[in-house]
Amino acid sequence: MACHPPASASPAPLIPAFSPQGGRSEASKMRMSMDPSHLAANLDDVRRRIAQACREAGRDPAEVALLPVSKTFGPEAIRAAVALGLHRFGENRVQEIRDKAGPLADCGIAWVVIGHLQTNKAKDVARLASEVQSLDRPELAEALQHRLEIEGRELDVLVQVKTSPEESKHGLPPAALEGFLERLRDFPRLRVRGLMTMAVQSDDPAAVRACFRRLRELRDAMRARGHALPRLSMGMSGDFPLAIAEGATEVRIGTALFGRR
Ligand SMILES: Cc1ncc(COP(=O)(O)O)c(C=O)c1O
Repeated sequence: MACHPPASASPAPLIPAFSPQGGRSEASKMRMSMDPSHLAANLDDVRRRIAQACREAGRDPAEVALLPVSKTFGPEAIRAAVALGLHRFGENRVQEIRDKAGPLADCGIAWVVIGHLQTNKAKDVARLASEVQSLDRPELAEALQHRLEIEGRELDVLVQVKTSPEESKHGLPPAALEGFLERLRDFPRLRVRGLMTMAVQSDDPAAVRACFRRLRELRDAMRARGHALPRLSMGMSGDFPLAIAEGATEVRIGTALFGRR
């Protein structure tokens, strides 16, 4: 759907920093100004690199979707991205979706939750999000199912799997995946579409790539047991070519598109 800015809006030379209402103090301290012309150039560059990674992996670029991650970037940056044809945006915090959804209501945006999700946010997610990629535990599935019943909606979900040893990374342990997928059959409002992961933060490409390979192998093993999981969301600005080489169907890109947060 086209984005219809209010008639009074005049283009600003720079997209200003975004300070979400009630946002965390570190979010409001970040520098987030950007030149909109950079966004078009960055988007071209990311698409070119996705196509190149696909060529090198013998894959069709049409198999790999781009999910722009607009975390910490405000409505005007997102509006500029919508003008370039993007309409799904990944956000880590539900509060940011709440803050941005109103000012961008005319843009037809599909909001995708990619960050760790507390069960007390299920109500907002059921109202505002089109998809959750960070589903990682039964209590969250139960809370989402309940709120989706109230809203009369369904939600696409990806199960986030922890493929990295880092304490800071969220996700379901690989050994628990099959049991969790079985359990998700009890939650019909959740349409399970695939798996998501974040690789280890490392300068060693082999270590990073091993995380992506692990997710693909888990997907293949689950598929052999009757769980169709067509989507693999893996790869960020610093590592997406490796993820594409291992079968990513979707890469989540923030910094390489919008700039540093
Ligand atoms: C789960 C997840 N995916 C993707 C991204 C985008 O990362 P980058 O800015 O490195 O592209 C982030 C950023 O915080 C994230 O948390």
